[in-house]
Amino acid sequence: MDRFSRPSAGVGGRRPENECKGVLSTDIAIDLGTSNVKIYLDGKGIVLNEPAVVAVNAETNAVVATGREAYAMVGRTSARIRVSHPLSGGVISDFDLARYLISVYLKKINAGRVVMPRVVVSVPCKITEVEKRAVVDAVSAAGMRKICLIEEPVAAAMGAGMDISAPHGVLVVDVGGGTTDMAVLSLRGIAVSRSLKVAGNAFDGAIVKYIRRKYNLIIGQRMAESAKIAVGCVFPRKELLTFRVKGRNAMTGLPQWVDLSSDEALEALIDSAMQIVRTIQEMLEKTPPELMGDIYTDGMVLTGGSAMLYGLDRLLAKKTRMKVTVADDPQDCVALGAGKAIQFIDDLENKAYGVPNPLSAAY
Ligand SMILES: Nc1ncnc2c1ncn2[C@@H]1O[C@H](COP(=O)(O)OP(=O)(O)OP(=O)(O)O)[C@@H](O)[C@H]1O
Ligand SMILES: [Mg+2]
Repeated sequence: MDRFSRPSAGVGGRRPENECKGVLSTDIAIDLGTSNVKIYLDGKGIVLNEPAVVAVNAETNAVVATGREAYAMVGRTSARIRVSHPLSGGVISDFDLARYLISVYLKKINAGRVVMPRVVVSVPCKITEVEKRAVVDAVSAAGMRKICLIEEPVAAAMGAGMDISAPHGVLVVDVGGGTTDMAVLSLRGIAVSRSLKVAGNAFDGAIVKYIRRKYNLIIGQRMAESAKIAVGCVFPRKELLTFRVKGRNAMTGLPQWVDLSSDEALEALIDSAMQIVRTIQEMLEKTPPELMGDIYTDGMVLTGGSAMLYGLDRLLAKKTRMKVTVADDPQDCVALGAGKAIQFIDDLENKAYGVPNPLSAAY
């Protein structure tokens, strides 16, 4: 028996919670995000959204908790428990755990009731063949029959409701947890794209570093994320907000707190945000002029959970002199778009090459 071989039992032998019974839909879509895994069922919409986190007993390697339950343990574990993120920077960093996580989540939505369903999985646009293969193997180990890949910006644009089928350029920037994926799309394909490992986690890390440097205070990643969501900004807020961050003083070792202001959060986060700005500018320089004309007229659309970071839209608008819109429910766009792309699996299987297909590969 291999080390993560009891997905059906759920945590501690219990059945997974929120199990939705009686689901018999055939095709599904998975957004295998660095922070969250989302699963879309054809005809039902997003039926699962759980943190991509697994807690493991460090001595026995047995899984102790997954998803929300494991996320609650981040930074709060004893020496015996290790919390792992099986995905980092948008790709699989721990194959066994990723495979385990996917099978637990598929069990939760009862995908096992369907005999080997077909699945669309989103992947960052600049990953290597080896990294793609790892995603395909992890999903197929969970019992999927046909696995089609869709590049994240393509899925994000479709999920945001943009029309990408016309010979007309659209610009989408997906700012997630591990990566920011951006692309200029036309005819359901990518004209130019960029991916950088600066997104939500980098923003959290920047807050941790800032507080350590300025106050000698060591705080955890989760505390930093809460501060980012509460007072974080990359464009000055109209009113000053504060958030109490608690941690340990690096000199005395004693507990300490400080009230972090939104102005300080701006100072902490702006460098990371400017890396995103520079990558967009660099991509625009490589964009063919006709497509450039289209996107200057329509502007860009932001998707991904970190699109909700206060002021990111305004910072990008100011620096690129383009209209910037944040999609509705930005965090769900990739999963929704991958779900919409399910309808193209048949074309791919039938080799209908006359139809521009948003799916990039099938296995
Ligand atoms: N209101 C908010 N303000 C700022 N950031 C937020 C907000 N809500 C969520 N986030 C951030 O969004 C990120 C998660 O977004 P998302 O679910 O799109 O990532 P992902 O798809 O798992 O990651 P990736 O696409 O990089 O693989 C987290 O870093 C989270 O802190
Ligand atoms: Mg994502």
